[in-house]
Amino acid sequence: MAPTSRAAWEQAYARVESALRSAGAASAADLPALEETRIRFLGRKGELTELLKALKDLPLEERKALGPKGNALKESFEAAIASRRAELEDAGDAASLKNETVDLTLPALRPPRGRLHPLTVTLREIADIFHRMGYDWAEGPFVEDERHNFSALNFPPDHPARDSQDTFYLEGLPLLLRTHTSTVQIRAMEASRPPIRVVCPGRVFRHEQTDVTHSAVFHQVEGLVVDRGAGFSDLKGHLQTFLEALLGRGTKTRFRPSYFPFVEPSAEVDVKCFLCPGSGCPACKRTGWIEILGAGVVHPKVLEGVGWDPEQWSGFAFGIGVERVAMLLHGVRDLRDFYVNDLRFLNQFDEDLA
Ligand code: PHE
Repeated sequence: MAPTSRAAWEQAYARVESALRSAGAASAADLPALEETRIRFLGRKGELTELLKALKDLPLEERKALGPKGNALKESFEAAIASRRAELEDAGDAASLKNETVDLTLPALRPPRGRLHPLTVTLREIADIFHRMGYDWAEGPFVEDERHNFSALNFPPDHPARDSQDTFYLEGLPLLLRTHTSTVQIRAMEASRPPIRVVCPGRVFRHEQTDVTHSAVFHQVEGLVVDRGAGFSDLKGHLQTFLEALLGRGTKTRFRPSYFPFVEPSAEVDVKCFLCPGSGCPACKRTGWIEILGAGVVHPKVLEGVGWDPEQWSGFAFGIGVERVAMLLHGVRDLRDFYVNDLRFLNQFDEDLA
C-alpha cells in the first residue's frame, strides 16, 4: 500500500533508505549484480520509484517538504550506481587486455591493392623511352573514318591492302574501328606544322582469328618523325636506341624488307626469340625471330596529303606491337593470357610493377 500520510511516507522512506544501504550498490560484485540492484530500486516498479510516485498522493505542502528529500535519495543512489559501473567496466577492460596477446611475428595482412595492367605498364614504358628521346605524346579516336585509316595513308581505293587489315566497319555508317595507330600520324600532322616528333599509343582492332600471337583487340605505339633530311638511317638509329633501352644493350634485331603503302622503303623489325635462342618454337613460328614492329620512310604522298611539302620535309614512322613487347619482356607464351583477367596470371607482375 502506498503511504498516504506524511508519517507513513517517512516510514516508507526510512525502509527504502535502509534497504538501499544493505543492498550496497557501491560494492556490487559485477555488472549484472549492479543492474539487478538498479532495477530493484529504480525499475518501473522499483522500491524507490514507488516511494517517489507516492508523493503525488500527499497534500501540496507536504509534497514540497518531502519531494527534495526523495529526489536527493534517488540522485545519490544513481551516482553510486554510475561510479560502481565505471569501476567494474575499467576492471573488465584491464582483465581482457591481460588475456589478449599479440604475436608480432605473424605476417601482416596485405590489403588488396589495385595495380596497372601489364599491357598498360609496357605501353607506358615504350612511350617513356621515346619521351626521353624528345617525342611528344598524341592520341586519337578508336572510331575512325576511311580517310584517316586508309586514304590519307596512301591505301588506294579498293586496294587489297585494305583487306589485309581485316577491318571492323560500323553498321550503316562510313566509319570503322581503327586497324592501326597510323591514323594518329595523320591527325598529329593535321594538328600541327613541321617539324614533328610524336608517339601515339593506343588500342587497335582487327577482325582476326585469335591465337597465341594474335588478338582482335591489341595495342600499338606509333612513332612519327618529320624533319628536314630525316631518313632511313635516322629511323634505324632511333629504333636500335629504343630497343636497347627496352630490352637491354646488345639486343639483336633484324630489319626485313616489307610493304606498307604509307612508307617507302618499308621494313619489318624482328628481335631474337626469347623462348628458344634461335632454334625455333611455336612463338617465333620456328624462325628464331619475333616480329615486333613495322617501319619505314614516310611516303611523299602522305606528306602532300596533309599539305606538307615533300621537297622540304621528310621523315620516318614506325608502329610497335605492345603485346609482343610485353611477351618478350615477361616471357609470356600466349598473348591471350593478357585478356582473360585471371588474377593468378596478373598477380605475377607484382614485382615488376611495384
Ligand atoms: N601500321 C602498321 C601496322 O599496323 C605498322 C607500321 C607503322 C608500319 C608505321 C610502318 C610504319 O601493321
